[in-house]
Amino acid sequence: MALSSITKKLIMSISGLFLIVFMLLHMTINFFSVIDSFTGKYGAADGLFQAGCDFMALPIITIMVPVLAAGFIVHIVYALILTYGNYKARGTERYAVANKTKTESWAAKNMLVLGVVVLGIVAFHLNHFWADMQLAEWQGEHAANPYDLLNATFGNWIWVLVYLVWFAALGLHLCHGFWSAFQSIGLSNKVWEKRLMYIGYAVVAIIVLGFSAVAINACLHAYGILG
Ligand code: HEM
Repeated sequence: MALSSITKKLIMSISGLFLIVFMLLHMTINFFSVIDSFTGKYGAADGLFQAGCDFMALPIITIMVPVLAAGFIVHIVYALILTYGNYKARGTERYAVANKTKTESWAAKNMLVLGVVVLGIVAFHLNHFWADMQLAEWQGEHAANPYDLLNATFGNWIWVLVYLVWFAALGLHLCHGFWSAFQSIGLSNKVWEKRLMYIGYAVVAIIVLGFSAVAINACLHAYGILG
């Protein structure tokens, strides 16, 4: 049975909002490493970031991994289906209408490109962290020390730069995505349209600034600028 385009957009929205919740949780646990710097526990066995990683390794959380992976896959597959559908429907006339609403912003027009950049760097990111932690545990090995992985990745300024570009792409993708998700679900109306946009900007700022602080803080530790 072919799904209507509304149903497809609904699936995109719900999977997207689910991924935003993951992002907020992931950023919060990573941000524990910044708090560790203030409490003098960066790198310590009883550091907050270590505790956060131990919590994420609990079986009750680990069973969520396939759900998270499914969330990513559904979001990506439907992004491709919807983009292809739009392309077929509008053909070369895609941007012929001069409609300067929010949906026509640069981010809105480039959601697929931004998504590809975000996903492309996720592959490197999983290799930097997840492969030596969760995957290693699944293979019966010891998980690496998470502070060592922060040092290894952010001790190379090129990776710091790549990650910051990644967060910027993620931010642009989410800026449009957050607002658009509520629009598709049907919760946005004349009054809430503007409000949701500002709430979205606030959520995105928290995610982008939080992740950036983690990367820069880890870089300062790795280069010996912070103790
Ligand atoms: C400074 C930024 C970041 C740091 C330091 C960081 C750190 C980590 C760490 C330590 C893990 C392994 C967790 C474990 O195996 O227990 C991990 C996994 C993961 N990260 Fe990140 N992360 C960052 C940003 C991001 C962003 C922006 C995304 C998504 C766009 C992302 C997506 C993932 C995914 C999908 C996993 C695997 C699932 C999981 O185990 O939670 N990360 N990250």
